[in-house]
Amino acid sequence: MREDTGPHQVAVIPGDGIGPEVIEAALAVLRATGVPLEFQRYQAGDECLEKQGTALPPETLAGALAAEAVLFGAVGKTAAEVILRLRRELNTFVNLRPTRAFPGVDCLYPELKLVIVRENTEGLYSGLEDEITPGVVTATRVITQAASQRIARFAFEYALRNGFGQVTAIHKANVLQKSDGLFLRAARAVAAEYPQIEYQEALVDSTAMNLVLRPERFQILLTPNLFGDILSDLAAGLVGGLGLCPSANLGDKHALFEPVHGSAPDIAGRNIANPTAAILCGAMLLRHFGELASAERVERALEQAIAAGQGTTDLGGSLSTTEMAQAVIGRMP
Ligand code: IPM
Ligand code: MN
Repeated sequence: MREDTGPHQVAVIPGDGIGPEVIEAALAVLRATGVPLEFQRYQAGDECLEKQGTALPPETLAGALAAEAVLFGAVGKTAAEVILRLRRELNTFVNLRPTRAFPGVDCLYPELKLVIVRENTEGLYSGLEDEITPGVVTATRVITQAASQRIARFAFEYALRNGFGQVTAIHKANVLQKSDGLFLRAARAVAAEYPQIEYQEALVDSTAMNLVLRPERFQILLTPNLFGDILSDLAAGLVGGLGLCPSANLGDKHALFEPVHGSAPDIAGRNIANPTAAILCGAMLLRHFGELASAERVERALEQAIAAGQGTTDLGGSLSTTEMAQAVIGRMP
């Protein structure tokens, strides 16, 4: 709970490539909402590594830890060092990836709305890789009951609070019998506490196919870490690409919002990157602060701008990144 009534403190980490451009667009939209927010910028990423000798300087980490929320752009080759470390240090155990289509954007499923609730602390992301002997490397996949239960509970609570009627636990328990067996047992135990939410289980491989053929079968996908990483890109592909998909890394104390896309060095510095995912991250950040009406204003204005063809070229429009942000702002009541 906040004790004062001053502006919310937000650490901003623009990063590399198109990160700074899409983050500027999101900040412009956030400022236009009038919600009292104070932004403090920090360095991280490839360029930072070159200049400062570290991809994640101590002041950036300290700033992220001290802020009420972090808005993150994208980083290049140092992504793992930066974002995985931040997720770990901030103990954000949820990676929430809402994926939806936008009217006016050409895609496979124009009506689709899916949410991926990805475990964010363990699985194959535990950092336990070993060359046990030349030519033999192991990667340890850690699944714990505590983390599995915690992420399952988040998925069901999220379903309840956001009007979803179904959660599907994604697994490969036919092969990973012990680890995904544990993941599923934890999910089932939590599911039993939510009889109003339909619970199903699905193998990750068949889910990949079914997401392409009949994605309307799914509402919330509850996944171990790597399966969520892979399926969130697949889901993005169903609605028109990574440029449209935001994510939130959430823990008990910290929250970090980042577009699912990367730093896209090929189009960086040209003011043509699609700022949609970053603007949607801004809306998620507003919602996190309880600013629901402002979050909805942003989302509605963004939807309207996209539907009216006021988007970047990848959206079929002809606007630059900054022009698209202005178009969104111009539609905010
Ligand atoms: C993502 C990214 C990251 C991940 C990489 C950059 C470490 O792919 O956020 O989905 O694997 O989680
Ligand atoms: Mn990914």
